[in-house]
Amino acid sequence: MGFRKDFIWGAATASYQIEGAAFEDGKGLSVWDRFSHEPDKVFDGHNGDVACDHYHRYESDVQLMKEIGLKAYRFSISWPRVLPEGKGAVNQKGLDFYNRLIDQLLKNDIRPFVTLFHWDYPSALQALGAWENPDSVKWFEEYAALCARTFGDRVKDFITFNEPQCFIGLGYTIGVHAPGLKLPDSSLVPMSHHVLKSHGVATRALRSLVPDVRVGYAPCGDPCMPASLSPEDIEAARKAYFTVPENQGWAFNAAWWSDPAMLGCYPESGLKRLEQFLPKGWQEDLKVIHQPLDFYGQNIYNGNYFRAADNEQGFEKLPHPVGCPKTAIQWPITPEALYWGPYFLYERYKTPFIMTENGMSAHDAVSLDGKVHDPNRQDFLNRYLLAFKQAAEDGVDIRGYFHWSLMDNYEWAQGYRERFGLIHVDYETQKRILKDSAYWYRGVIESNGECL
Ligand code: BGC
Repeated sequence: MGFRKDFIWGAATASYQIEGAAFEDGKGLSVWDRFSHEPDKVFDGHNGDVACDHYHRYESDVQLMKEIGLKAYRFSISWPRVLPEGKGAVNQKGLDFYNRLIDQLLKNDIRPFVTLFHWDYPSALQALGAWENPDSVKWFEEYAALCARTFGDRVKDFITFNEPQCFIGLGYTIGVHAPGLKLPDSSLVPMSHHVLKSHGVATRALRSLVPDVRVGYAPCGDPCMPASLSPEDIEAARKAYFTVPENQGWAFNAAWWSDPAMLGCYPESGLKRLEQFLPKGWQEDLKVIHQPLDFYGQNIYNGNYFRAADNEQGFEKLPHPVGCPKTAIQWPITPEALYWGPYFLYERYKTPFIMTENGMSAHDAVSLDGKVHDPNRQDFLNRYLLAFKQAAEDGVDIRGYFHWSLMDNYEWAQGYRERFGLIHVDYETQKRILKDSAYWYRGVIESNGECL
């Protein structure tokens, strides 16, 4: 058994995190171009003006992907690069960049997976109320249709949204990401509804404009893992995963963002308190939101343990064990998240599963021998992929895995402090070095995971 023969082995990036060229060739501004230039928002005042300069180095970057043996590459389109005002006039030079990148990928037998939205929202639309404005749905539809018409002759795999939990939760709820707002639920809940509806109309547009298209979604939400294999603990974890919390944690929950898209309904636990804030006619909108998807993507980095409890909810969260291993960014290392996440999500949504992001940040450095030795990342990957493989063996229909990230890049509010890449980037010189883990991952790809 193990992974399917046609398993999609890839790596992922996002436009603002790698492209740079923030003010070039007619690109409009995104909320991140503004936020990263505000004082005290980002570690050491770092911004994405240049980032990995991928805009100018995409050709050699594709060669590095080839060297790793990637079968697929997931990247996002910068909305304001192709529509500087978010709608209306098109920036042909922006489209040309993505056309060149796509052509280069295809020439090298690397399958492009295009994410329409990975957080760099057009500033011009932010000024019009962003996702809170009901028109945001038609703005996104216009943008999705432009991408479909321009790239759809060559790109067949599209992802509508990356982690709505994070751009709404971090950007508009707790304000640590762009645009740095802290809004009340009366604004946030309609926003979440408009994002979901945008997912629906974009999926519909992609289907009607791109022959043989495959459409997916890439939300997140840390998996809940059972503390033991007892049926009671497994049920407790399942319940915890899909129960919407009563506080503002709802914005980070899995079910709130996936049930409407995958099942055509909001989770009852969320409606109890949040229904009052949903826009009029929300029930009708569910038909638009609920579109058939070809794959269900998910970004997973770690999970939390739960056990059955004699309380109202029937579950309780356990702390991570004292001294539990952590990555450089201080996220716990919990390989089982790649078993239980896909397991519970497939059980609930019954849609082919793709791991759209997974990886770790480490204190990577160039050694005296000129190489980057990162045994911890290799070990992390090995453990996580073994758990993922086990999920496939236990019947989860798993189609692919995208490592986050292809290269070190701009880690949002952490700036360049965190290194998540398979490729080391020296930001002063833009020199790239494949880390040891990149060569190790090449072996995994070559053996289709048999060497794990
Ligand atoms: C995001 C990436 C981010 C990564 C590591 C995900 O939340 O999609 O953009 O860099 O995790 O934090």
